[in-house]
Amino acid sequence: MSSTRFEPSGPLRGSLRPPSDKSISHRAALIAAMGQGKTTIEGYLDAADTRSTLEAIKALGAEVSEEKPGKGEGIAGARGLHLWIHGIRMRRPKPAQIDVGNAGTLLRLLPGWLAGQVGGEWTLDGDESIRRRPVDRIAEPLREMGADLAAREDRLPPLEVRGAPLHGITYEMPIASAQVKSCLLFAGLRAEGETRVVEPAPSRDHTEQMLKAAGASVWREEASNTVVLQPAEKLEPEDLLVPADISSAAFFLTAAVLVPGSEVGLDRVGINPTRTGLLTILERMGAEFEFEWEAESGGERVAAIRARHASLQRTEVGGAEIPLAIDELPLVALAACFAEGRTVIRDAAELRRKESDRIETVTAALRALGGHVEATEDGMEIDGSGGLRGGSIDSHGDHRIAMLGAVAGLASREGVEVHGMDAAAVSYPDFESDLASLTRR
Ligand code: S3P
Repeated sequence: MSSTRFEPSGPLRGSLRPPSDKSISHRAALIAAMGQGKTTIEGYLDAADTRSTLEAIKALGAEVSEEKPGKGEGIAGARGLHLWIHGIRMRRPKPAQIDVGNAGTLLRLLPGWLAGQVGGEWTLDGDESIRRRPVDRIAEPLREMGADLAAREDRLPPLEVRGAPLHGITYEMPIASAQVKSCLLFAGLRAEGETRVVEPAPSRDHTEQMLKAAGASVWREEASNTVVLQPAEKLEPEDLLVPADISSAAFFLTAAVLVPGSEVGLDRVGINPTRTGLLTILERMGAEFEFEWEAESGGERVAAIRARHASLQRTEVGGAEIPLAIDELPLVALAACFAEGRTVIRDAAELRRKESDRIETVTAALRALGGHVEATEDGMEIDGSGGLRGGSIDSHGDHRIAMLGAVAGLASREGVEVHGMDAAAVSYPDFESDLASLTRR
């Protein structure tokens, strides 16, 4: 396990293009694998999680060729892999044992594709953290659609999928989960009749955007927060340029807000409104962001975001805002340590089911650094004290906790030692060198 120390830094300066979006990369590879013919994906995230998805689709019979463009090659601004994926069309994927590694998104999305493939059998399993991630959230509605699934203790991986004929259902999700929604939409492609997924609040909609672009009939009924999908004979995915991941940009945006004198630009970041909750929350706390350039790529809005230091005030975060900022809530808790007053995060019990129990791991980390944080059942309460002392923390193998520790170190008075910094490679292998490029004088 690697340990890295992050010393208090002077202002962060400069700009960079963060790595490509993890959620979009997973979906692009899966939809290309289900599709007709060849799909080109430019800027596919080259990280452990999305490598697991490429291995999975290869095991299922898709052909994947890849090239890693050097600096300055490829389409301007792209970072990551250039991929050509030959889909297996509506044919049955090959039987396989799929190792999803640490990727919860792959674990939840892939069974949607496999469940309706009559005659096939697959097993999905992964690392120690994956074995604690619930799959009953997808197994229950998939079974209602007719799927034949078996899981350890009926709720944990390994998950066995035996293809069976499916029919569309109306499913009211008890939690706003883009992973569950996406799984059911994938299953609905092969089901008989319409599939309707009702969300308690909107969650990220990349799957809907991409399926629509591939020719599927999918739409949203705004008034009832319902996504409706018709079965599809075939998918013809569009070639795609993956934007930078706002969830990775979030570490630098927060660092810039917390470290006095900072001004940082993050280029070509996806600003889909279902992903920008952190920006809204930090703005409410007193930060200001500028969107300097905007374009559209593959149905996703993309912009350069400029962030600078700001003094922060307390806030309350809950309800429909939670799914829009779910992966950035650890950073909200960090920012709250630097704010004035008591910040409350509620309705976020889902944090307990991420790569680690993020209510516990964030609370433990921030307390170890001198923060005044209390864990609650469904969130955290943070008494801002204008900053953090520093100390040492454990990532618990969770990429976002490792990177949280690094940002805390830069903004702290005494620096932070992060044990298990290698976890960052799950979504952001070059995190440390990118961070260094913004703190280098
Ligand atoms: C993701 C959805 C979110 C998020 C995860 C990625 C996705 O999970 O936390 O990191 O790509 O669909 P839930 O949908 O389970 O909340």
